[in-house]
Amino acid sequence: MQDSQDDPTENTQTEPAPWWRRGVVYQIYVRSFADDNADGTGDINGLRSRLPYLRDLGVDALWINPWYRSPLNDGGYDVADYREIEPRYGSTADAEALISEAHEIGIKIIIDLVPNHTSSEHQWFEEALAAPIGDPARSRYHIRPGRGTDGSEPPTNWVSVFGGPAWSRLDDGEWFLHLFDDTQPDLNWENPEVRAEFESIFRFWLDRGVDGFRVDVAQGSVKDMTFPDMDTSTQEILGGVTVEDHPFWDLDGVHDIIRQWRRILDEYSEDGAERMMVAEAWVATPERLARYLRPDEYHQSFNFDLLQSEWDANSMRSIIAEACQEAAAVGSTPTWVLSNHDVVRHATRYGLPIGTKWRNWLLDGPHNVLDTNLGQRRARAAALLLLGLPGSSYIYQGDELGLDEVWDLPTAVLDDPVWERSGHTSKGRDGCRVPVPWTKNGPSYGFGTGEAWLPQPKSFSGISVEAQTGKSGSMLELYRLALRTRRQHLIADETIEMLEEGDTVVAFQRGSGVQCWTNLGSEAVPLPSDIKVLIASDPLDKQLPANTSVWFLPR
Ligand code: NOJ
Repeated sequence: MQDSQDDPTENTQTEPAPWWRRGVVYQIYVRSFADDNADGTGDINGLRSRLPYLRDLGVDALWINPWYRSPLNDGGYDVADYREIEPRYGSTADAEALISEAHEIGIKIIIDLVPNHTSSEHQWFEEALAAPIGDPARSRYHIRPGRGTDGSEPPTNWVSVFGGPAWSRLDDGEWFLHLFDDTQPDLNWENPEVRAEFESIFRFWLDRGVDGFRVDVAQGSVKDMTFPDMDTSTQEILGGVTVEDHPFWDLDGVHDIIRQWRRILDEYSEDGAERMMVAEAWVATPERLARYLRPDEYHQSFNFDLLQSEWDANSMRSIIAEACQEAAAVGSTPTWVLSNHDVVRHATRYGLPIGTKWRNWLLDGPHNVLDTNLGQRRARAAALLLLGLPGSSYIYQGDELGLDEVWDLPTAVLDDPVWERSGHTSKGRDGCRVPVPWTKNGPSYGFGTGEAWLPQPKSFSGISVEAQTGKSGSMLELYRLALRTRRQHLIADETIEMLEEGDTVVAFQRGSGVQCWTNLGSEAVPLPSDIKVLIASDPLDKQLPANTSVWFLPR
């Protein structure tokens, strides 16, 4: 049932709009992808050695999580030098080699840029600490006197996304702002020097051939400089943005900065090689998100609503329809994602009872409610839903293997600062960052030749790349076929017509005439009688079983 009669590699469609509007982007968490030098940490040369795998998988681009010099307190989102590669990951020469080797096989490279904050080991922060109060070297960050007669209270009541106060006190009595860890001081984007520096960083990497940027905390760089207090009940640990009119999320000023960056990208795109940027913007509503996608701003912005949706057809249907509408209204295309390095992997989320707060479940359980078979089956169906949609879709490394969240990591190995900052009330994000298994055997299942930086469960052997390659019905072969079929049938247009096929089904038709159906209910539903099936996530029996997706052409 899963094999198309046609050769799916034959692209019968004309080459459509720029690559980023329709591409499938594979997210690389370098630290956990492949370790070339046997130190237990993934690296760029490990990634280079796996490029043939990525080519054969059929992805269009890679998004590489931060690879800059960093103490790795927050997995590299604490950048000490934006123009150098973290030595544990390799060298600038390795990065340049990767970019050119990827380009040779038709894969684009998107790198992660972190403009909201630096590492406390960044030269600027070291200069700020060494400078006297009032010195311009301090004004690259938000460093302020505290409240109270002796200044011993933080300047505002703002809370960190990772838990605890967002201000820490310096030895000289002033306070610095960090919306994340206290080793991640927030930059002051009112300072022209900060703006100029990032313009130069953009150019530095564009000159080295990168095709795009994923911009971290895109909604956060600009703060309300009157520093009012916030409603602290609106910020959950690692939670997205739920309210408008906030003192540091989604302020209008961020759009000026975005426009400045867009001008640089447009300048570098003049030779026809389209350079793009995609926003990680957690904002309150789809309308607010669409503002980031105006023609002179971001090319794309992740749609996190789908990721946050329950396994529920009505919810997913309206999220899809609204995201398509909002993106089209500003001339963009939607950007879909089900998992990334910050959330519980979707194969696990979909195996939990409806309504489970999955971040809490990691620590608090009960863990026996997890139905891993159901999660796997739904993850297969979700893969076809994700890849059937117009726009671009992001796959997080290991999704194609059906990796589950490793929810039972011993607390002694946890590395995410969230574990400590939350006062051990949130287990953090390590469970989705466990190194990828490539082979059935070996000390780290082929991730490297030694032990991996986070322990992998024994079950990784049976779902390794080696175990799944060529195995009919495996998750990996499903992804490979889906990506080939997508190229053949689903990228020449950006249109989508939502179909009404009952309460439990998400169904839509693409411009090529292909229909994509996902049954999110618990009963099979009838399919039209005369169809040519292109791919199904599990066997069909004239009906679409529960938790199954199919792509077909009506005859
Ligand atoms: C979002 C990133 O995805 C996450 O991993 C990081 O911790 C925060 N931004 C802070 O940079």
